[in-house]
Amino acid sequence: MDDCTYVIFGATGNLARIKLLPALYHLDAAGRLPERLKVVGFGRRDWEDEYWRDQVRESLAGNPTDPEVLERFLARLFFFRGDLGEDAAYPALRDYLLESDRFSPNLIFYMAIRPADFGLVSRQLGAVQLNREDGGWRRLVIEKPFGYDLESAESLNRSLGKEFQEAQIFRIDHYLGKGTVQNVLVFRFANLMLEPLWNRNYIDHVQITHSESLGTEGRAGYYDGAGALRDMIQSHLLQLLTLVAMEPPANLDAESLRDEKVKVLRSIRPIPSSAVNAHAFRAQYAAGEINGEKVSAYLDEPDVPKDSVTETYVALKLLIDNWRWRNVPFYLRTGKRMAKGNSMVSIRFKHPPQQLFRETQIDRLKPNWILLNLQPNECIRMEMQVKQTGLELRAETTRLDASYCGINPGTLDAYEALLLDVIDGDHSLFLRYDEVNWAWKVVDPILKNWAMERDYIHTYPSGSWGPPEADRLFVRQDQRWRNTLEDEND
Ligand code: BG6
Repeated sequence: MDDCTYVIFGATGNLARIKLLPALYHLDAAGRLPERLKVVGFGRRDWEDEYWRDQVRESLAGNPTDPEVLERFLARLFFFRGDLGEDAAYPALRDYLLESDRFSPNLIFYMAIRPADFGLVSRQLGAVQLNREDGGWRRLVIEKPFGYDLESAESLNRSLGKEFQEAQIFRIDHYLGKGTVQNVLVFRFANLMLEPLWNRNYIDHVQITHSESLGTEGRAGYYDGAGALRDMIQSHLLQLLTLVAMEPPANLDAESLRDEKVKVLRSIRPIPSSAVNAHAFRAQYAAGEINGEKVSAYLDEPDVPKDSVTETYVALKLLIDNWRWRNVPFYLRTGKRMAKGNSMVSIRFKHPPQQLFRETQIDRLKPNWILLNLQPNECIRMEMQVKQTGLELRAETTRLDASYCGINPGTLDAYEALLLDVIDGDHSLFLRYDEVNWAWKVVDPILKNWAMERDYIHTYPSGSWGPPEADRLFVRQDQRWRNTLEDEND
């Protein structure tokens, strides 16, 4: 692995403090960082290296720390004072990085800043030629959201493209760094017995649910302008959908994998604006109770305008027009302040073709389900029907748990894997621009429609599983939401 320098724009912000620096620290503790890797924090505050190191030392205090590793890690950190909007900051940064051999000439620029500044910073890096790969490689890491809608994503891409080649750009979707998400691919493509069943002939529908019990956690300033459709569906849940629905790639290299994902996104049936209400449902949380504690309504949270109709919940029905999936609904659902935090892919199979047990005590057979629980615990579960013990022919559901279903404390944070991949130059778990673009095309008609209908939004009590009105998306009456692994009703 090459030595390199991570230059973090927004080094004193939340993302750097909560995700990036702890991830780099854990990688260091695991002996995974190149020996001469350094981290340059770019920030506006008038801090010396030592002061920043003290701040980071404090923020890492919650992690298991070995004093020797901690000191080694802190010695990698340097603080560069600069203002993103100040022209003079960039030539000074270039000189600081390149004029001595303190730093490796391989540079990673990490944009842990407001998306509105992505274009500006990349332009400035280009102006001082920090984009040029002479004497070392240069990479740019872009955080979500990549644009605000289709049009702004295209314009951001054009602007980044003026300074950086596609091979230099790493668009992060941290869901792809989660081991449990990668396991969807292993589960599908390492188990031949599933392949014959994984299609429209046997699968009734697919649900992809991400629920959170948390609210906006001090991020309302960003969240109110985004909403759940942009924040979770356009990015993370559509990525999950591609992994569940894609064809096996020719191999696991970045281009083959991303080609297959794009094919799925391109096959999603466009939602005409007249059908938005039949395909998408939005709502906002009202006051309620979570884990015995009263929590306030979205509208009462700091920084949320009193007349906001920003959605904190979305349910969406998508159809994929290809041979494998034609007419199999994919239901995507996400919400904040729901009863529990959980992410799960639930696959419901069809009923057997003949009701063989009609004359018996088995009144209605329950369908098979495959449940891939992604967090908080990883679990693959199959629900099957077996005969109850006793003289009568009655059926009951039994569960086959196919992996470790407890909480696994050793799970790596998604960022750890992704930060290493950037050093390695491996794009497999990063988004290619056409993926982003097609994902925007899927949600754009809904965004446009909702932007116009601004006088009313449904609500759901905090601590519930969302508004019952969302059931209207189901194409058949026997379909219902699966919320968690323990959900017994089906
Ligand atoms: C982020 C969203 O991308 O993902 C947040 O901006 C959301 O609003 C988060 O809470 C969920 O990620 P995770 O890893 O906690 O499931």
